Amino acid sequence: MRNLLAGNTVIPVIVLDREEDAVPLARALVAGGLKVLEITLRTPAAVGGIRQIIEQVPEAIVGTGTVYTPEQVQLSEDLGCQFMVSPGATDKLLEAAQKSSVGLLPGVSSVSEMMRCMEYGYQDFKFFPAEASGGAAKIKALSGPFADVKFCPTGGIGLGNVMDYLSLPNVMCVGGSWICPANLVKEQRWDEIEQLAREASALGQ
Ligand code: 3PG
Repeated sequence: MRNLLAGNTVIPVIVLDREEDAVPLARALVAGGLKVLEITLRTPAAVGGIRQIIEQVPEAIVGTGTVYTPEQVQLSEDLGCQFMVSPGATDKLLEAAQKSSVGLLPGVSSVSEMMRCMEYGYQDFKFFPAEASGGAAKIKALSGPFADVKFCPTGGIGLGNVMDYLSLPNVMCVGGSWICPANLVKEQRWDEIEQLAREASALGQ
């Protein structure tokens, strides 16, 4: 995951309500400089939307989000996704992910969850829900005992607090939905989304 995410400091977390929005949304994000896209498997439009993005926006690096079952791991692989993100980590999920060719960024919010994932070989984690689980202060505190671990905090992050996270050496990137707010997607305001993406992509430079 670290290699895949290298140089991509902000990952838009996308909730697709309409399949037809998938391609213009992905194009706007990529045009704004964000090419790693997490599309959550929360909505019926997600699977068709992912297919269309993979076919029509080849510059995008497409992954599934909200993955929490072995079936969703298989689905991610069948769709041709390049990564998967889970909100938490169960043994069933980790076992399925180990057999998959698609890399998983498992979600953790506690030390013991991290240690369980580390037993499966993981060193890179989604830290979720970031703000509600202790925020940047917690991630900073984790750098002592877990010097080799890197995080992608997600949940409650926006322009107002993103630098609290990105300034930490053990944060490789952040995820969030602030780049593709539901109202802008609903109203198909792609130029504004591209502008938000441009601001976000400049953060890590
Ligand atoms: C999620 O899975 O919903 C993400 O963590 C996004 O959280 P956000 O909407 O607070 O950015």
